[in-house]
Amino acid sequence: MIDAMSKRFILVPSILSADFLKLGDAIQECLDAGIDWFQLDVMDGEYVPNISFGIPIVEACRRATEAYLDVHLMINEPERYLAMFADAGADSLTIHVESTRHPHAVLGKIRELGLSSGLALNPGTPLSAIENLMHLADLILVMTVNPGFAGQAFIENSPRKVRQARTMLDQAGLAAHVQVDGGITPQTAKSCYEAGADVFVAASAIFQHPQGIRAGIKAMRDALTLRQA
Ligand code: DX5
Repeated sequence: MIDAMSKRFILVPSILSADFLKLGDAIQECLDAGIDWFQLDVMDGEYVPNISFGIPIVEACRRATEAYLDVHLMINEPERYLAMFADAGADSLTIHVESTRHPHAVLGKIRELGLSSGLALNPGTPLSAIENLMHLADLILVMTVNPGFAGQAFIENSPRKVRQARTMLDQAGLAAHVQVDGGITPQTAKSCYEAGADVFVAASAIFQHPQGIRAGIKAMRDALTLRQA
């Protein structure tokens, strides 16, 4: 049974580190472990120095599950593709504030499409860059690595930025999620939770866990649940 305490955080596997030949099995294993939110990391080789996957994988995940599909767009000018990702079955679209000249308009468009809106900022981007945009976002993603690759080391001063983000939201009377992504392990998740994050994305720590996916999910949940006790 999921109690009220464990609802205070949301654990989000990023399929970036899954075995794509067995993606359906990996998703099912997460679902069996109680996961109801996945992140799909779309990279274009321009905004970030890597290419991952695009719309067909979002469609395939949508066929595999009714879970919440959080599509993290690491692409230049994401406004070109919002409707296509919506049609593919995304529940939310997160854009990077650095990836478009018109983040205000793009966030509005995401909501017009009926999706939840996410706004990400890179480690080098100050929170002042999103101050006039926060009210248009259902989720603020504080990147805890430079985006592009799974398996990178967590940037150590990230919890400070998470705390600043949560404070800015509180002071503005906004209740958006604060999501962290990159190098999230049981240990780093705890420090981000204490700083005010409530949504934790992990790729390697779940899909590359030496004892398997279920063990990776359990380790993360145990760390966050103990922290709340
Ligand atoms: C951006 C990606 C990664 C990935 C997380 O590069 O968004 O942050 O999902 O990968 P891990 O959990 O392996 O750092």
